[in-house]
Amino acid sequence: MKSVTVVNHPLVQHKLTFMRKKDTSTAGFRRLLREISLLLCYEVTRELPMTNETIETPLAEMQSPVLEGKKLVFASVLRAGNGLLEGMLDLVPSARVAHIGLYRDHETLEPVEYYFKAPEDLSDRLVIVVDPMLATANSAIAAVQKLKERGARNLRFVCLLAAPEGIEKFTTAHPDVPVVTAAIDERLNDKGYIVPGLGDAGDRMYGTK
Ligand code: PRP
Ligand code: URA
Repeated sequence: MKSVTVVNHPLVQHKLTFMRKKDTSTAGFRRLLREISLLLCYEVTRELPMTNETIETPLAEMQSPVLEGKKLVFASVLRAGNGLLEGMLDLVPSARVAHIGLYRDHETLEPVEYYFKAPEDLSDRLVIVVDPMLATANSAIAAVQKLKERGARNLRFVCLLAAPEGIEKFTTAHPDVPVVTAAIDERLNDKGYIVPGLGDAGDRMYGTK
């Protein structure tokens, strides 16, 4: 997989425009994020290894492809990661799930960890880390670092929006982890927000401030 993939699909870009609009409701924002997550999941799982299984149709026996290897893991960076997780689980219902509780300290922009729970055997599973926003990349870098410390070796990172600064920092810190995003925006502002962006993803999803 490429180091950075921007998903330019018309449906993704159309839905993202509505997510960016400041007047989009909480319910609308959540629904759009769920819809986009299906399309991002399709993209990030495009090259999963397959194997053939012998099956019987009502007419004949055949070799038919199925996913190979252990069930993959979605790792959601709380809170906003859950907005991507739900739709992805609709497409891959047998996936395992890790939760990583991180919030950004608003002064230092450093991630503060408050929760971590993941399946035991990460080393032989694909781990897809999900978080809508890659801003300074401090949260994503910490989340991936933690997963690697717990044994993960094959990871991908999926977000909705990224800042160029975040992409640069993340791919330097974890060059082995491909990034899939719906868009790369212009820049970060002096508070570490993506511009033009969509605001605070967690707050917009849950109606908090
Ligand atoms: C947001 C977002 C990312 C992080 C990105 O979470 O969901 O986790 O900020 O910023 P960074 O790249 O500069 O680290 P936030 O800390 O606001 O927590 P929340 O999801 O609980 O609202
Ligand atoms: N986190 C968000 O939710 N939005 C940003 O623009 C940056 C970090």
